[in-house]
Amino acid sequence: MAPSSSSLSFFLIILLACIIGSTAACYTAIFGFGDSLTDAGNLIHLETDGSVPHMYYPPYGETFFGHPTGRCSDGRVILDLIAEYYGLAIPPPSLSRKAQTGGDNIQQGVNFAVVGSRALPAEFYEKLDIYDTVTNVSMNDQLHAFQDMIPSLCNSPSDCKNLLENSLFVLGEFGGNDYTHSLLSGKNISVIQPFIPIVARAIAEGAHKLIELGARTVMVPSVLPLGCAASYLTYYPSPNIEDYDDLGCLIWVNNMASYHNQLLQKELNLLRERHPYANIIYTDIFNAAMQIYDGPETLGFSGGALKACCGGGGPYNFNPDLQCGNVGATSCLDPSTFVNWDGYHLTETAYILITNSLLDGSYTYPRMNTLCPVNAKVAQL
Ligand SMILES: *[C@@H]1O[C@H](CO)[C@@H](O)[C@H](O)[C@H]1NC(C)=O
Ligand SMILES: *[C@@H]1O[C@H](CO)[C@@H](O)[C@H](O)[C@H]1NC(C)=O
Repeated sequence: MAPSSSSLSFFLIILLACIIGSTAACYTAIFGFGDSLTDAGNLIHLETDGSVPHMYYPPYGETFFGHPTGRCSDGRVILDLIAEYYGLAIPPPSLSRKAQTGGDNIQQGVNFAVVGSRALPAEFYEKLDIYDTVTNVSMNDQLHAFQDMIPSLCNSPSDCKNLLENSLFVLGEFGGNDYTHSLLSGKNISVIQPFIPIVARAIAEGAHKLIELGARTVMVPSVLPLGCAASYLTYYPSPNIEDYDDLGCLIWVNNMASYHNQLLQKELNLLRERHPYANIIYTDIFNAAMQIYDGPETLGFSGGALKACCGGGGPYNFNPDLQCGNVGATSCLDPSTFVNWDGYHLTETAYILITNSLLDGSYTYPRMNTLCPVNAKVAQL
């Protein structure tokens, strides 16, 4: 009996090794697209006049990396954390010299996101007299940049097919700037509401393009609860208490975000019918973030959820004329006790909480953890 029981345990060990091996190789690469929630250092390469945007100055990057990288946070952003969770290298910004010349492990992934980027092209908005003061790079520009890079990612048609099939694509978040820059251009909600369906459809169309190229797994994030952001709360203060929910967030702004998210889910449902073999994953960062806004203190955010850690003062420590990174702005001592980093963006600690609740399946549809089970959690600080 002894030999058979030891060969059985040998068999089990091999089986276990295969399972661990296959989950570790769940995705062989990760490709990200989006805006300032995702950009890891692309924006500076687009500044033709050599100017250095405020997120390239300390204290950006102080918690992780130890220096500014161009990420709009004190550390890693959600895409970085997803990459780490699946055992992949943190994807480099696509416009870095190294990525452009085929270096920096680009076969394991690349980050195409650009601060300020919108789902729809600048031409659409210019007709409405709406301008993005940060960038004109749209979602489609990023998708084209990915397409142009494919030849340096793989060697043969079958190699490229494998790469695309086994990669995780994270398309967004997109949409936030489509609305934010419209509001900042002086347009009100009655001008914006009618084009929200166009934005939602464009994002689904972007996912369709990736699937047509050969992608099998595409995460499509919602927009965040923008009405809880220090920036929005500062730009649109209201004397009417009814304009705020019981967490202190602006109801009309969160309604706008929820409307976008509803339409996006409808579009993704239609897309799943067109591509039954693709994993199209609605990624609900709105509600993943909302669970933090719901009870920040119980999660260790003693600084609260609404006030920015880093900024130029005011009730929410946000001042568009004195942004985080500018000389004269101040920063909290411990960013891990704040949800909001700089007015628009969240701290790494908030991103870690959000990422964990996406990857354990709670806020992804279908649930991420059943598609590709990995037991580890994103490391806490
Ligand atoms: C976007 O493009 C328009 C012209 O179409 C230009 O006037 C504007 O300066 C550009 N904005 C940025 C941020 O590059
Ligand atoms: C919104 O803007 C439009 C166009 O500028 C204007 O006609 C309308 O009165 C505005 N609505 C509100 C509620 O301010």
